[in-house]
Amino acid sequence: MADSRDELIRMAKRTMQGLAENKGELVDAQYRVPVEYYFDQDRWQLEVDRIFKRLPLVLGFSCQVREVGSYLAVTVLGVPVLMARGSDGEMRAFLNVCRHRGAQVVEEGCGKARRFSCPYHAWSYNTQGDLVGIFEAAAFGDVDRNTHGLTTLPVTERAGIIWVTLTPNSRLDHDAFFRGYDKMLEHHHFADCHYAGGQTITGANWKIAYDGYLDFYHLPILHRNTFGPDTSPKALFEAWGPHQRLMAPDKRTSVNTLEGTPESEWPEEKLVFGVWTIFPHVSIAAFDAEGKVYMISQLFPGEGPDESVTTQHFLHTQPLTDAVKESMVSRMAFMVKVVEDEDYKTGKEIQRGMRSGAMSHVTFGKNEGGTQAFHKWVQAIIQADDDQLSDMFSTGIGTKSN
Ligand code: FES
Ligand SMILES: [Fe+2]
Repeated sequence: MADSRDELIRMAKRTMQGLAENKGELVDAQYRVPVEYYFDQDRWQLEVDRIFKRLPLVLGFSCQVREVGSYLAVTVLGVPVLMARGSDGEMRAFLNVCRHRGAQVVEEGCGKARRFSCPYHAWSYNTQGDLVGIFEAAAFGDVDRNTHGLTTLPVTERAGIIWVTLTPNSRLDHDAFFRGYDKMLEHHHFADCHYAGGQTITGANWKIAYDGYLDFYHLPILHRNTFGPDTSPKALFEAWGPHQRLMAPDKRTSVNTLEGTPESEWPEEKLVFGVWTIFPHVSIAAFDAEGKVYMISQLFPGEGPDESVTTQHFLHTQPLTDAVKESMVSRMAFMVKVVEDEDYKTGKEIQRGMRSGAMSHVTFGKNEGGTQAFHKWVQAIIQADDDQLSDMFSTGIGTKSN
């Protein structure tokens, strides 16, 4: 595999060329998705079980749990998850479920602890997940502490991002899943960022919501009253397995300022433009500020096929001084408004439209290669057995890949 900086340079040049020729990427054919895939209950359940319950999901960021003993507890698709950095510095993930009678051990949120004590009868666990204390142990009777620790979940921390798989015994090969994309994401240096806040928005079906992040076609139209003017509807796509980066051959793209300087001097921060997505549920966008602000949108299916929940996480490259915090208030308010009032409002209308009987399928155009690849991966994964998954990520499914 090419060095990841060389890859960034190749993609910058590709974008410069797109800009010079005023051309986006066109794939060979259109692609159709049956409308039921966006609202059928069985189909939705299959996506939850075979995609969200089997693949590593982005559940946190290293900058939220930097120090030894820091933890993050979240509930994802009804599954309580605890991530904790042990005294050895290792990130671990567990089902946040007490092995006595199943109570949730740690309340949702971030914190720091040496021990986790269950609020029900005070059984306690260390940050490695070992059962280390039993209240009134003699009275309770024998418990094999070796087999009553918190149940571990597969976890991997790469590029400042924490991925957890909700299935305890998953054997999915992480390197196959990332296909080198983790190395690309390292160029963002998320591990050195500061967690500036998060906010949650509800939307329509998770794929309607996600389609929007893989789509530059709508930018100058739907967002005409906010950030749309001067954006390009054209896009160039890059893929590593199911993970995609979108780049716009757009005058405002930072590559525009690189012309005339030698490649070896092109600064990394100007090479990581565009939207970076992490299959199946994350989109990363960056904004210039004092330093740089990342908005990392993390999507999950909601209570049913018509609903999804998105958390916008904001990571800042600068320490969170009062001035930085203040600037984040208006930025976050703007981003929630754009997504709620423009993208997700439209998404909810689309959801009604899908159910209305007006059409039997959705057509993705030749200029919509990003959404096409996404839906092809969704389809391939829900059809694959557990044993086939790692191979499928290694070999690809016939969509293009780096
Ligand atoms: S359920 Fe946790 S100590 Fe009883
Ligand atoms: Fe949008």
